[in-house]
Amino acid sequence: MSQAFDVIVIGAGPGGYIAAIRAAQLGMKVACIDEWKNAAGGPAPGGTCTNVGCIPSKALLQSSEHYDHAAHHFADHGIGVSGLSLDLPKMLGRKDAVVKQNNEGILYLFKKNKVTFFHGRGSFSKAAAGGYEIAVQGDKPETLTAAQVIVATGSSARALPGTPFDEDMVLSNDGALRIGAVPKRLAVIGSGVIGLEMGSVWRRLGSDVTVLEGLPTFLGAVDEQIAKEAKKIFDKQGLKIELGVKVGEIKVAKKAAKSSVTLAYTNAKGEAVSLEADKLIISIGRVPNTAGLNPEAVGLKLDDRGAVLVDEECRTNLAGVWAVGDVVRGPMLAHKAEEEGVAVAERIAGQHGHVNFNTIPWVIYTSPEIAWVGETEQQLKARGAAYKAGTFPFLANGRARALGDTTGMVKFLADAKTDEILGVHIVGPMASELIAEAVVAMEFKASSEDIARICHAHPSLSEATKEAALAVDKRTLNF
Ligand code: FAD
Ligand code: NAI
Repeated sequence: MSQAFDVIVIGAGPGGYIAAIRAAQLGMKVACIDEWKNAAGGPAPGGTCTNVGCIPSKALLQSSEHYDHAAHHFADHGIGVSGLSLDLPKMLGRKDAVVKQNNEGILYLFKKNKVTFFHGRGSFSKAAAGGYEIAVQGDKPETLTAAQVIVATGSSARALPGTPFDEDMVLSNDGALRIGAVPKRLAVIGSGVIGLEMGSVWRRLGSDVTVLEGLPTFLGAVDEQIAKEAKKIFDKQGLKIELGVKVGEIKVAKKAAKSSVTLAYTNAKGEAVSLEADKLIISIGRVPNTAGLNPEAVGLKLDDRGAVLVDEECRTNLAGVWAVGDVVRGPMLAHKAEEEGVAVAERIAGQHGHVNFNTIPWVIYTSPEIAWVGETEQQLKARGAAYKAGTFPFLANGRARALGDTTGMVKFLADAKTDEILGVHIVGPMASELIAEAVVAMEFKASSEDIARICHAHPSLSEATKEAALAVDKRTLNF
């Protein structure tokens, strides 16, 4: 016997679980299927984000930052610490507890919103009368039908050809979040978001971290001035980042006494280098999850990267089948997945769901944080736009001085004629929170003068945002 629903969501990551809740809020009968298992084999909804992504990485970034502050910065505040120690199992246990709270929170939200949850793998069986039949393979096999299906199956770490993840010596984001003892020497391939965040965690806890990046530029998608400033700070912190390398053979030697991994690579000067490390993290991007979905059964089209092919509104080639989040084009970000999930649920309900791809913020949670929204200066130059720029350093911000973190700056880019804000770029303390003001401003098509005329609390980091907006008109007050 099959169970009939109005909407079936496959995947309970931020794209899927949010789509399921929004569809239920709009009065639909909703099922959500997810196969993620916790350590006990039970359901662990929340996807990559909750289980091995955003949430556990931020928990460890926070813990490691506390440790780093206690070890290196408390003394500046006149606080002496003696006998500082690291209880790594406890730190990892705290991170696991935070993840568990989030898993349980989602199960609670499903109950509250009357979303029926199925634990197992969901795959297309066939097109059924007026919709689709979805098989659930789990502890209890089920057959579900619905006229509307939302695919939200997310993404997985991309492996280097010939070097599969074993999550012991060669780690994806999953293993990188549960290394049992601080590795003395940690190698990371890829200086993207995961490489920098996880590299920062283990460096703060005591590892000697070397990050090998294939491209000659650092953080190519980030505004050049901001990326340059960030690189200077990371260099000073002791995070060794080598750009323009070509990684060759990777050898893992597993020994009872001491295992190691040796990487052969060519550096930017063309010299052959050999690097030995105790663990290796590979963070070279992610691939969409469609294996197991059985898209062929219904003729669901994928693109040449294996992502589900969708239009701007997340419609696939099949009537009634939608796809959102990491499994489709666009940035692989939890909040992008959520926005798409909400918009699709609203479109199914006949409403006009909308996602503004121009105002999706990015944050890299290093210390200092890097955050941005809109276009970079190099993008504006490339399209020949006439623009004005204004920057303000945290060095001149009273709150940053009081905090003891004056690294970085806020940068505004505005249209030369209309003054409309085209991009805001921040490297500095709490950039993840500061960027929200810029997102709101851009969503409402504000000018830099609008921000410059708004009263900002004193002393606050947000005054640096106001001052950077003033700088567009060359009239900063505090610099
Ligand atoms: P996912 O979260 O990947 O969820 C997909 C779910 O579908 C999974 O539970 C999977 O098990 C399930 N699934 C797949 N196939 C099937 C099937 N056939 N049947 C049933 N279930 C299935 N983004 C941010 O915005 N901020 C951050 O700070 C951030 N930090 C990150 C840190 C790390 C280390 C990583 C790896 C990623 C991070 N991301 C961050 C990215 C973010 O995690 C993803 O963009 C987000 O999780 C995508 O959501 P999703 O719902 O599309 O997919
Ligand atoms: P990424 O795309 O951010 O960075 C990958 C890096 O690896 C790039 O700089 C690339 O040039 C480099 N690279 C690729 N192949 C290489 C090779 N063979 N040798 C050396 N370098 C190579 O990917 P990453 O870090 O794996 O993260 C995946 C995605 O997860 C991110 O793009 C982001 O969407 C998401 N994420 C978001 C976070 C956030 O919002 N704070 C945190 C972590 C991940």
